[in-house]
Amino acid sequence: MSDEIEIVHGADPLTPLEHRRSTTPLLLGGPGPDDATLRRLLTIALRVPDHGKLEPWRLIVLRGDARHEVARRLTDVYTREHPDDDAEQRERQIAKTVDMLTAAPVVVVVVSRVDPLARKPEWEQVLSAGAVCMNLLTALTLAGFDGVWLTGWSSYSEGGRQALGLESGEKVAGIIPIGTASEQQKDRPRPDFDRKVSFWQATAP
Ligand SMILES: Cc1cc2nc3c(=O)[nH]c(=O)nc-3n(C[C@H](O)[C@H](O)[C@H](O)COP(=O)(O)O)c2cc1C
Repeated sequence: MSDEIEIVHGADPLTPLEHRRSTTPLLLGGPGPDDATLRRLLTIALRVPDHGKLEPWRLIVLRGDARHEVARRLTDVYTREHPDDDAEQRERQIAKTVDMLTAAPVVVVVVSRVDPLARKPEWEQVLSAGAVCMNLLTALTLAGFDGVWLTGWSSYSEGGRQALGLESGEKVAGIIPIGTASEQQKDRPRPDFDRKVSFWQATAP
């Protein structure tokens, strides 16, 4: 086990997940996972339920200069695709995109690749890609890192998808920066358990 992984929040294994909180890229920086730890996190991310063993997903890892290269590419695409933005609007969007890609030391793009001809429904293939994102968030939380599941305009723009290296038919399921929060964000209101969870009461014995 890598020395870098520490069990956070004491011995109860559920406690870190009870406190999991996404971190805005603005508050993310180093350290991030070392090579061995990153490999473990990504291996765990891919250990998801996958009906029909279709593996309808893949991961693109951005580190070091790769993050800046993709940020430059997306900046060009945004500028080209939004000629009518005023300067302030453009700067704001570009800054958000650059932060998303360069603030944390590691960024993982989770790509959904649905096979419409496969014998399992497209919906289930998409859900499996969502599970990859959530597994990665859970794993990085348990390993003591911080992160956030993002998408943003680039995930929904043809130019953006090309700049990220996606092939035809592939979609971005998530862009997940991984690092360490410089400060913990205040929690947000969480779902009301009783409004969201019902226990079926059997009427017949
Ligand atoms: C598919 C998906 C895409 C998301 N994309 C963005 C995004 O582009 N920008 C953003 O601020 N939050 C985005 N979010 C929301 C954050 O991941 C996160 O849920 C939110 O900041 C609340 O934080 P929490 O994880 O602590 O509840 C997205 C969530 C999902 C599930």
